[in-house]
Amino acid sequence: MTTPLLKVDDLRVRFRTMGPLKALAKGVPDPYIDAVCGVSFDISEGETLGLVGESGSGKSTIARAIMGLVPAESGSVSFAGTDLTALSPRRFAPYRRDMAMMFQDPVGSLSPRLTVRSLITEPFRIHGTGDRDLDGEARRLLKMVGLNEDFARRFPHQLSGGQARRVGVARALALNPKLIIADEPTAGLDVSVQGEILNLFARLQDELGLAILIITHNLNVVRHITDRMAIMYLGRFVEQGPTEEVFYTPRHPYTEALLSANPEPDPDAVLDRIAISGEVPSLMNRPSGCEFHTRCLYAQAKCRTEAPALTEAGESHSFTCHYPLTVAHTGRTKAAS
Ligand SMILES: Nc1ncnc2c1ncn2[C@@H]1O[C@H](COP(=O)(O)OP(=O)(O)OP(=O)(O)O)[C@@H](O)[C@H]1O
Ligand code: SF4
Ligand SMILES: [Mg+2]
Repeated sequence: MTTPLLKVDDLRVRFRTMGPLKALAKGVPDPYIDAVCGVSFDISEGETLGLVGESGSGKSTIARAIMGLVPAESGSVSFAGTDLTALSPRRFAPYRRDMAMMFQDPVGSLSPRLTVRSLITEPFRIHGTGDRDLDGEARRLLKMVGLNEDFARRFPHQLSGGQARRVGVARALALNPKLIIADEPTAGLDVSVQGEILNLFARLQDELGLAILIITHNLNVVRHITDRMAIMYLGRFVEQGPTEEVFYTPRHPYTEALLSANPEPDPDAVLDRIAISGEVPSLMNRPSGCEFHTRCLYAQAKCRTEAPALTEAGESHSFTCHYPLTVAHTGRTKAAS
């Protein structure tokens, strides 16, 4: 078996929500939240994984933990077989060239005073390779993302949303990474510009054999460019599997609810109209048993007391539910009783 490019195994990330004095004053014995609790997945070379889930489910935290920007409480993140969580910052640094992150809010994350040339060639300076022909590199990178070389002189406020996204991609590509983590790369863009950015990702993946972890609220993005998808709820994966299989035969009620809440441009798609009711529970006060039971249309008594175990639904398709949706024909069906 070949070693996956990225392997995340039972990753846990905790955050302190208040200082010790405030916690004492408020009588909070455990002032932490588990933003990511026991997540496992891997990505092979050239593969695209989509990560979806409601706001606050822990998607960006996973990305930040992979990049070593927040510490893992436990579990491991391995890149090409090396456990990154065991490395000192100095020994971690070379891996930041192989993994590039496009942060959420790309316009806000581009320094307003730097020209596009400086922005996209900054990774060379950060990694001590700033002695190369930076004008040539800037031209090369702009071409890769479909921008002409005049853009090198522009400042971020002179870019449209789509152009800023392309600049973010160019910057991510600077050091020839093997993996790109893109956090909400199409958020806030018009549908036509979203399409252009998706085509850009698809082309780069084809030409460069990049592995991509794409985080998004937009299921159409997932559907069009990912090979596999994972669905997160309150810091856990509730389902993951091949994208087409999960879209047409979701096994977890949360997946079904998410899919049906998404506007679907394909008139032939099989979609039930099931909205997700209720509020997302607080991470400070997690529901007992299956944590989705407070919002699940199919919840039964057992769901309130017993956490469901991980069940394999096929090759690389798994979910956690006591009463999964059944698979009949190619469409979605009612939950099994
Ligand atoms: N540095 C931090 N300190 C404390 N809590 C944090 C920190 N970063 C994230 N959190 C909390 O961890 C949880 C997961 O946050 P995260 O940003 O990973 O969610 P997300 O799925 O990316 O959401 P969104 O879709 O809104 O971007 C949230 O409850 C968030 O408030
Ligand atoms: S275990 Fe029960 S509450 Fe949880 S998703 Fe399945 S049916 Fe719903
Ligand atoms: Mg996020």
